[in-house]
Amino acid sequence: MIYIGMQINIIQPYSFNSNKKPSFGGWERVVYKQTSNVFAEELNHRNNTYIFRDGHIIPSIVDFMVFRYMDTPKVNTYVYGCSNGSEPYSVLMSMISRYGEEMGQKFTKIKAFDYDSEAIIKAKSKYLPISIEEFEKICDYTLGKFNKFFDGESIGISKDFNRYLNKDTVFNVFGESKRFEDSIIIGKEVRLRDKYADMIEYSVANILDDYKNIEPDNSVVFARNFWPYLTTNERSKLAKNLGNQLNDTSMLVLGNFDMNSVAGITNLLGKNGFIRTGKTEPIFEKIIGWTA
Ligand SMILES: C[S@@+](CC[C@H](N)C(=O)[O-])C[C@H]1O[C@@H](n2cnc3c(N)ncnc32)[C@H](O)[C@@H]1O
Repeated sequence: MIYIGMQINIIQPYSFNSNKKPSFGGWERVVYKQTSNVFAEELNHRNNTYIFRDGHIIPSIVDFMVFRYMDTPKVNTYVYGCSNGSEPYSVLMSMISRYGEEMGQKFTKIKAFDYDSEAIIKAKSKYLPISIEEFEKICDYTLGKFNKFFDGESIGISKDFNRYLNKDTVFNVFGESKRFEDSIIIGKEVRLRDKYADMIEYSVANILDDYKNIEPDNSVVFARNFWPYLTTNERSKLAKNLGNQLNDTSMLVLGNFDMNSVAGITNLLGKNGFIRTGKTEPIFEKIIGWTA
């Protein structure tokens, strides 16, 4: 949902206005809200997202999910603040490449939401911007199965890049990739394969209201890297509402940006019945028998 009065301002990718090379592709967009002072802009949110953001963390979360729900036949997976779909597609790629198609079925369809309709349009397009670093991460974290998840059709990718997207083996690519680095810039997009893209269902929704639609049991709720954009009051309400909505068979996953930027977030979740159970990953589960 775009709020009335919200001003959308798409900042140019920094590769165009700086000499510095970006280290990731991803999607860089900043949205401001209008304030009563027409000259003052206030940050509403950023849509920044990357495939396999924060290194190994998505594969680690996926490992956690698979073992946590080993004996559960069906799990509900939600990704709130999904931006252009890089995050849910990373989860899906990691799940299927490491644990197989059957495991993928158990955790899908992934329901992915963002309150920003521009993000959902991007996600539904089935194209993702990709940099050489993201390409390498996909190869790494899917055990070399890039071609399984992307069909090689692309918008504006250089011929050289396209050439190696279609290679059967990715291992030569690591040696060659640096030669092509200059031709890979933010905004080049590759197409997701329908078979896997269709395992994610995208809709516009604000988690502050939509938490009511989350299944209380056997749900994994990704709510990553947007808590700093919420007001203190909104954060308190969200933590309380999620605490009441989710039972102890469900889990909540935050991001590094949330953990590093929101002081007291672990305490806030703790007050609402969540305990951190992921060692390096910010995974929270409900304390068994907790009541408000
Ligand atoms: C910085 S991006 C993070 C994207 C992705 N989760 C990741 O970790 O890469 C934050 C996203 O959260 C969305 N967002 C912010 N507040 C939200 C809310 N209350 N409900 C749903 N989406 C929200 C923004 O529109 C934006 O796309």
